[in-house]
Amino acid sequence: MDKTNEYLVNFKGHNFVKDVVNIEDLEKMEEFEIRDDDVFIITYPKSGTIWTQQILSLIYFEGHRNNTENISTVDRVPFLEYNIHNLDYAKMSSPRIFSSHLPYYLVPKGLKEKKTKTFYIYRNPKDVLISYFHFSNWVAIFEATDTLDQFLGKFLDGKGNCWFDHIRGWYEHRHDFNIMFLSYEDLKKDLRSSVLKICNFLEKELSEEELDAVVRQSTFENMKSDPLANYNYIINNKIGVRNNDSHFLRKGTIGDWKNHLTVEQNERFDMIFKMKMKNVPLKFIWDINEQ
Ligand code: A3P
Repeated sequence: MDKTNEYLVNFKGHNFVKDVVNIEDLEKMEEFEIRDDDVFIITYPKSGTIWTQQILSLIYFEGHRNNTENISTVDRVPFLEYNIHNLDYAKMSSPRIFSSHLPYYLVPKGLKEKKTKTFYIYRNPKDVLISYFHFSNWVAIFEATDTLDQFLGKFLDGKGNCWFDHIRGWYEHRHDFNIMFLSYEDLKKDLRSSVLKICNFLEKELSEEELDAVVRQSTFENMKSDPLANYNYIINNKIGVRNNDSHFLRKGTIGDWKNHLTVEQNERFDMIFKMKMKNVPLKFIWDINEQ
């Protein structure tokens, strides 16, 4: 375990947010006991984690769909490596749904038995960059960065938490897992068919009304105004923010990067993307009007 900076701690080559990680949990992660009906959501930060947490929770829990249960998304679908509310994962009833930002080589080895279903949700990395820049300047447990140019430098360099390594690692090892890749942009462009795809992979059949409820409650507008779904309480009260001008659900769109990157920054990004994503044939959507 290396000390990286005052915000981060490095464990086996990957950086974790120091204030919310427990190194002992990471040390035991490989042996974490997996159940066949567990479901995992894997993401690089700012790629649609909370959105997928909400969708899966709505698919699985009737009490969530019909608002008879008052449980926040983060408790329904907790983070494997960031156990913010100190839940006893071994005592959770099945099916358990976890989310995680872990790279493929740090996840519990039981996932490789291929019974457990795993989603890898990815987003075009220019929008990830912009979302992450705003987020880490807002939330106090992250390192703030003065300018987007500096943040871009760190993002492209990616030491300890590299977007390119994360997605490539999971993609290249996809045959080791029972995994479905789905993009943020797919969700955004056609939420209903994406929810159906998710249900098919999960082998969960929902009625038309249930499907409507999942779609309705997982739109950006609905989640933004739903305190159980938008993390605002946890971020503002438990984790702490540097200013009150932001929200976890910030813009929720495709192509916001165009409002931020200069032509030169964009070209620099494209050059590195082209080099590092060679032979990763995943489809990326960079613009809201793109098909
Ligand atoms: P922006 O900052 O671009 O708005 P994560 O949960 O992985 O940290 O991702 C957060 C990003 O997903 C934020 O992006 C947030 O607004 C977006 N998001 C969350 N729920 C969404 C929804 N229902 N529809 C569209 N975007 C959503």
